Amino acid sequence: NAILLQLIVFKAFYKEKAALICKIKTNGILYLCGMLKTTLLNAVNAGANEIRRYYNGSFTISNKEGINNLVTEADHASEKAIFDVIKKEFPNHFILSEETGEIVTNSEYKWIIDPIDGTVNFANGIPLCCVSIGVEHNGKMVLGAVYAPILNEMYFAETKKGATLNDKKIQVSNKQELVNSCLVTGFPYTYLDSPNGPLQIFEKLIRCGIPVRRLGSAAIDLCWVAAGRFDGFYEHKLAAWDSAAGFLLVKEAGGKITDFKGNDFSPYQPHILATNGKIHEQLQAVVNGAQVKNASSL
Ligand code: IPD
Ligand code: CA
Ligand code: CA
Repeated sequence: NAILLQLIVFKAFYKEKAALICKIKTNGILYLCGMLKTTLLNAVNAGANEIRRYYNGSFTISNKEGINNLVTEADHASEKAIFDVIKKEFPNHFILSEETGEIVTNSEYKWIIDPIDGTVNFANGIPLCCVSIGVEHNGKMVLGAVYAPILNEMYFAETKKGATLNDKKIQVSNKQELVNSCLVTGFPYTYLDSPNGPLQIFEKLIRCGIPVRRLGSAAIDLCWVAAGRFDGFYEHKLAAWDSAAGFLLVKEAGGKITDFKGNDFSPYQPHILATNGKIHEQLQAVVNGAQVKNASSL
């Protein structure tokens, strides 16, 4: 009887799997996309719950490479909660995540995860922190979600379907001139000085009276370009998990995103230039050493 029961359970399990595969084949990408999207939203929510749980509470903090490059107990808790959600639905998918590194498989799908972007903010009780997850299919970013739970802002983008903030469509700004723009940047933990390095470019822009903010979360910087709050963002040394989701947000909100040379952006190289498209060439020139046009220096 026990063997018979096992056989029935086994058959039912495979019938369900077979039905699922069948459904995927029938409805094609649509069905799988639905599952991917649901899993992505569940995963960012699971990570965000950990941010909420630890925010302003007590947690252990340790240092990574460089000074004040922190990792907290909450980063690990968020990463674990995210992994649990993804692995339950897609145990064979490839994962690249900041605190764990790569979980290599031969899947066409890759989840690129920053369990907390803006850890220094988080550790200081500054609400500019988020979970950021991008999903690649065969090397192309197809889904991205950034959830900043303390701000209650959920950003989501799906390739060719636009970008949203809390389910409302968002678009990049319409600013035409760099001199009138509001920009954001970030500074790496370990490298600042070099010709056209982060400090030189920052100085050049602010000496022209251009506001350049520094939020401390690259994923939020990108989402705020997508939402039209900033006209442009540049940074010199990002990792794939910082930019994967925000990259798609900017693209889908009608913006432009490249490396410093103007090549199509890849999250696997460090330089990022993301704008509303209109000021892109002007900002690109400045990042590469030019002076700001039509500006008087302060
Ligand atoms: C950092 C933030 C910051 C950027 C750093 C990143 P983390 O990520 O995105 O804005 O300037 O380069 O490392 O360490 O908070 O996940
Ligand atoms: Ca990060
Ligand atoms: Ca992080």
